[in-house]
Amino acid sequence: MSVLRVFSRKMATAAKINNVVIIGGGLMGSGIAQVAAATGHNVTLVEVNDQLVDKAIGGIKKSLERVAKKQFKDDTAKGQEYIQGTLEKLKGSAKLEESVANSDLVIEAIIEKMPIKHELFSKIDAVAPKGTVFASNTSSLSIGEIGSITKRQDRFGGLHFFNPVPMMKLLEVIRTEKTSEETYQQLMEFGKRLGKTCITCKDTPGFVVNRLLVPYMAEAVRLLERGDASARDIDIAMKLGAGYPMGPFELSDYVGLDTTNNILQGWHEKYPDNPLFKPVKLVEKLVSEGKLGVKSGEGFYSYKK
Ligand code: CAA
Ligand code: NAD
Repeated sequence: MSVLRVFSRKMATAAKINNVVIIGGGLMGSGIAQVAAATGHNVTLVEVNDQLVDKAIGGIKKSLERVAKKQFKDDTAKGQEYIQGTLEKLKGSAKLEESVANSDLVIEAIIEKMPIKHELFSKIDAVAPKGTVFASNTSSLSIGEIGSITKRQDRFGGLHFFNPVPMMKLLEVIRTEKTSEETYQQLMEFGKRLGKTCITCKDTPGFVVNRLLVPYMAEAVRLLERGDASARDIDIAMKLGAGYPMGPFELSDYVGLDTTNNILQGWHEKYPDNPLFKPVKLVEKLVSEGKLGVKSGEGFYSYKK
């Protein structure tokens, strides 16, 4: 057999990802788990305790019902089959080490803090199979820096999904200088199997979307802080004047003000001279009051029924 055929055979085998572990079952991890299970992968969703596992799976069921209602509106039986089929591919667990033991791909979607992501990856690096690819869904941190804690930097990349994952069609695939070509191809292939349109970006702060979106959301809050316009009017302006589906305050509440705040703080610490990355007082205040947006029931707006 020629060297080329051996190589391409290896590539074909390595590229297939079947067993996917998602760590963190919040807004993003739940969405990623849902879409991966719906596209035929064996998915384990890991949370910190059983109660949060149940909450995440419950949220996925509700989201699946919404998808089914839309996709199979004329055929309820097919819709139920879709929901059942997806749930059969999905299990939840609070046992981290056990869950990654038979994984092809692990996607991390926990809090946006480097030390906490490092702690997680060093733990799983010690127990996951050698060939398992690791990816982070970080919004703003350096993929290379997250992966540097592991002994598999060649099998480490970024998979940046968008909220709500079942609806948003984009996936940013990030390769660091150390990500191998094979890993990059596996991540691109996985993204396509999820039905996402994949773009590639270098390992830079915020990649493409957040590098543009987060300074925009921060500037909207500064506009409000200056008293130039109300949150409601700024939202209306951007929806009707720029065609955005949500205004910047609706979007910040939707993303989570804690996440937005962590992004700005992390960038400001690293790039203190960049005025675009300056943390915003009003966001810090809301977070300190536990007002995190839609997920906590209140942010810039109230979502309490
Ligand atoms: N799960 C399943 N289906 C969903 C869903 C979810 N979470 N959210 C919306 N849908 C589907 C449902 O079919 C829903 O109909 P029902 O309410 O009858 O179930 C349908 O979409 C329409 O939803 P809505 O009526 O609530 O509103 P909409 O038409 O405005 O669509 C939206 C919702 C897709 C979220 C749209 O408002 C939108 O695109 N908003 C912008 C989102 C965005 O910019 N996301 C990126 C954030 S940045 C990020 O993610 C990166 C980061 O690192 C911070
Ligand atoms: P979230 O607060 O909704 O969920 C995080 C979840 O991770 C929580 O449920 C928490 O219990 C769980 N968790 C924390 N530590 C854990 C551990 N060690 N093991 C297992 N589970 C653990 O946060 P989110 O919005 O889903 O964000 C998660 C990641 O995705 C962050 O890095 C964020 O920057 C990124 N991201 C967020 C968005 C967004 O719009 N919110 C979009 C793209 C990327």
